[in-house]
Amino acid sequence: MNITVVGTGYVGLVSGVCYAELGNRVVCVDKDAHKIMQLERGEIPIYEPGLKELADANVRRGRLSYTSDLHEAMRLSELVIIAVGTPPLPSGEADMRYIESVAAEIGEALGHYQLIVIKSTVPVGTNEAVRGLIAARTRQPFEMASVPEFLREGSAVQDTLHPDRIVIGADSSRAAHTLQELHRPLTDQLIVTDIRSAEMIKYASNAFLATKISFINEIANICEKVGADVTEVAGGMGLDRRIGAAFLRAGIGYGGSCFPKDTKALIQIAGNVAYDFKLLKSVVEVNHMQRFGVIDKLLRALGHLQGRRVAIWGLAFKPETDDVRDAPAIEIIERLLELGATPVVHDPIAMPNFRRIAADPRIVWCEQPLDAVRGADALCLLTEWSQYLRQDLREVERAMARPILIDGRNAYSAEQLAGAHFAYYPVGRPAMNNEDIALHELI
Ligand code: UDX
Repeated sequence: MNITVVGTGYVGLVSGVCYAELGNRVVCVDKDAHKIMQLERGEIPIYEPGLKELADANVRRGRLSYTSDLHEAMRLSELVIIAVGTPPLPSGEADMRYIESVAAEIGEALGHYQLIVIKSTVPVGTNEAVRGLIAARTRQPFEMASVPEFLREGSAVQDTLHPDRIVIGADSSRAAHTLQELHRPLTDQLIVTDIRSAEMIKYASNAFLATKISFINEIANICEKVGADVTEVAGGMGLDRRIGAAFLRAGIGYGGSCFPKDTKALIQIAGNVAYDFKLLKSVVEVNHMQRFGVIDKLLRALGHLQGRRVAIWGLAFKPETDDVRDAPAIEIIERLLELGATPVVHDPIAMPNFRRIAADPRIVWCEQPLDAVRGADALCLLTEWSQYLRQDLREVERAMARPILIDGRNAYSAEQLAGAHFAYYPVGRPAMNNEDIALHELI
């Protein structure tokens, strides 16, 4: 198939490359000419394991190309996939500006029948609105469909090539058939439904996963008070197939480009039809509060934070990505600064992005994890990068002024901690080496 993919962000680029990998001829379009030039040089603007290799291979095979000219790209295509961003407006609603301008352009460029698919996460009803925008600018026949994207950052290629399911929202058998054929090599789990339900499946899925995370975080907070271990609790719960083991890792809450944005957008979508989505509002609030648990533990361990040197390992919202959008680390570091502490930070790849949004001169940036902990009064693990888990904790302890470890991701096992003498504060598990040690050290 000849496919035009509009938008070379996460969703667009990964989808384009993967459709090419399936044997289709794909043209990725972006109006950002600089980005297109980068891509043509073989530079991938996002950090995503495996993506560059796959993109290079498909460019070489002549199945993947890049352009900023949508008209040219659409001349030969049979399918146009809209994958532009829908960033949040201050109200939480999705900003539809890019979708609308792409729709207008598609309407103007349409020279023969094409199937237009929306992959961006868009409020229910957007497909129909886009259909109207295109129809107002062309006399050519076209159809609309929705194929929401469920990929995760850091495993985007893997998720796209091996999805749990493909959801196809279509209102004609021709459109449904085309999309079934396109996706059949990926999975047998192809669900064909109406367009509005497909749009809703994306929001409902993300909202549900976010709910699982906030739920287990609240259970973790209670575990801390009653002396239970949330990892044991989650393990026991997860064995019930109706619950499932995934997304029950307690920590400092979710961040990233999807959960924060999509939960708020769904609250807003519900609000627009006079429905108060109370449960999801609480999920968002719990998630926001959860990050400050790190600060509470630091205060418990150190008494106050004025003049303290606090090492931070990990800035990205999760490992294997340089994405810091809505990362809990942002507000944790802001709070540390407010309380007079000096954050000494390290992340394997997210520091340049973090610097762009949090360029406070009081932050100390380190190229090596061990440099960050040298002379530190406490260490906070905020992203569970594997390189942090491989560190020799005895060496870390020796480098620090005070051996206090706040593990925001429950990343360290008892074996890893054995031999080091940390006052260890995980999430929802009994603190080890207990608080007396930390307080005792201060006296
Ligand atoms: C998510 C969805 O998984 C994906 O289907 C959707 O298309 C986009 O949003 P992503 O944001 O890339 O993907 O990351 P994911 O791996 O889902 O993690 C999201 C956040 O939740 C991270 O901050 C992670 O640390 C946190 N998380 C995840 C937890 O705190 N606990 C968990 O058990 C799982």
